[in-house]
Amino acid sequence: MPGRIEWVQENCRLLQEIATEFRDSKPFAGLTIGTGIHLEPKTVALLMTLRAGGANIIATGNLNSTQPDTLAWLRKNNIEVVGEATQNVSHHREFLKQVLAAKPDLLLDNGGDLFELFLENPYEGLLGGTEETTSGRMRLALKREQLQRPILVINDSPIKQFAENEHAVGQSVLESYMRLTNRITNGQRVTVFGYGACGMGVAYNFRNANAKVSVVDICPLKRLRAHLDGFDTPDRATAIRHADAIITVTGGGRLIGAEDLPLFKDNVMMANAGHFPTEIDVADIAAHHSVEDITQYEEGIVRYTLKDGRRVRILTDGHMVNLAGPRPLGNSIESMDLGFALQARCLEAVARGQATVADCVVPVPHSIDKQVAEGYLRLHYPLAAD
Ligand SMILES: NC(=O)c1ccc[n+]([C@@H]2O[C@H](COP(=O)([O-])OP(=O)(O)OC[C@H]3O[C@@H](n4cnc5c(N)ncnc54)[C@H](O)[C@@H]3O)[C@@H](O)[C@H]2O)c1
Repeated sequence: MPGRIEWVQENCRLLQEIATEFRDSKPFAGLTIGTGIHLEPKTVALLMTLRAGGANIIATGNLNSTQPDTLAWLRKNNIEVVGEATQNVSHHREFLKQVLAAKPDLLLDNGGDLFELFLENPYEGLLGGTEETTSGRMRLALKREQLQRPILVINDSPIKQFAENEHAVGQSVLESYMRLTNRITNGQRVTVFGYGACGMGVAYNFRNANAKVSVVDICPLKRLRAHLDGFDTPDRATAIRHADAIITVTGGGRLIGAEDLPLFKDNVMMANAGHFPTEIDVADIAAHHSVEDITQYEEGIVRYTLKDGRRVRILTDGHMVNLAGPRPLGNSIESMDLGFALQARCLEAVARGQATVADCVVPVPHSIDKQVAEGYLRLHYPLAAD
C-alpha cells in the first residue's frame, strides 16, 4: 500500500513537473549535490527531482529532525544518506563532514552548516549552491569574501515568505494544536507571542477557528498592525493571565519562564512554533519549587501541576509544535512544493552557470520566482496563470 512518502510525492505537482523536464534536460549530469536539510517525506520529493536531473546525491539531515522511515526509504531507493536521527551536536557535525568528504559540486544547505564547514576545509570544484533559511543567510553573509561562489537564499524569496511563513505555518500550528490536544478552540482565549509573518498566520488561523485571539509583540509597529487587524494587544502580563492557550513564534530568545507561573490560568496550554526550543523555558518551569507533579502524556503533552492546584500544559516540550511530537506533518504539501521548486530551480541556475560570484548569498532571482509562481498557477488555477 502506498504510504505517506508516496502521498507527498503525488501531491508535489510542481516538483513532478520539474522532474519530468529534468529527465530530458539533465542539468546535474555528472554533478554531486551534498545536502544537509531535514530528512522527512517532503524532502524526498525534492531529492528525487534532483536525481531525475542526473545528480548524484549525498544527503544528511538536520539536528533532531530526521525521520527514520524517510531515511529507510531513501536508502532503499539508492540515495546515499549519511548518519541517522540524532540530537548530538558532535555526531551531527561528523555527518556533515562526511557529506563534504565526497567533495560535492553543489551544496543544498539549511542553516549554513555545510558552507561553514566547507570553509574550514575547502576543496576544489565547489560551484556554489543554496541556503534555505534566514539564520543560515545571516551566518553566511558575514563570510561572502571567503565563500566567493553563487549561493541563493530560498527564505528571501517573497514566495517562501507568503506561501510558507504567512499561510502554511499558521495552518499547521492550528492543525498540530488540535491533533495533539483534541481540544476546542471556539471561544478560547489564545495569546500569540510575535506578529511577524508566522505569528500573523497563527493569529488569523486561531481566529478563523473562533478563538478570541490577542497578540503580544515587542515592536510597537507590529502591535499597531495587530490592533488594526482587529486583534487585542494587551500588555504581556494581562495577555498571559487571561490566556487559555499561549503560542510563541518570535525567533527571539526566551519569552516564557517560571517567573510567569503566578500568572497562568488553570489548564493553560502552551506551545512554541519558533525555530529554537528556547521561547518557552521548559527546564526552568519543570525545576520550579511550585511544581508538585509532572505527568507526561503519550500525545506529546506534559502536565505540570502546581502546589496551588493549577495545571499548566506544554506541548512537544517547547520544540516546534508543527514539526515535533507524535507523527508530525509539518506545513502543507503544496507550500513545501513551492519552496522546494525554488530550490530545484536555483540549484539548476548554479549548475548551469547562470548565477555568478556576484550572487553570493543573495535572494532567489526574480526570474525564478516568476517561473515558479506561473508554474504553480498553471497547475492549480489555470485561469490565473496569465
Ligand atoms: N514552525 C515552523 O514551521 C516555522 C516555519 C518558518 C519559520 N519559523 C520560525 O518562526 C519564528 C518567527 O518567524 P517570522 O518569519 O514570523 O519572524 P519575523 O521576524 O517576521 O517576526 C518575529 C516577530 O516576533 C517579535 N518578537 C521578537 N522578540 C519578541 C519578544 N521577546 N516578545 C514578543 N515579540 C517578539 C518581533 O518583533 C517580530 O514581530 C522564527 O524562529 C522562524 O525560524 C517556524
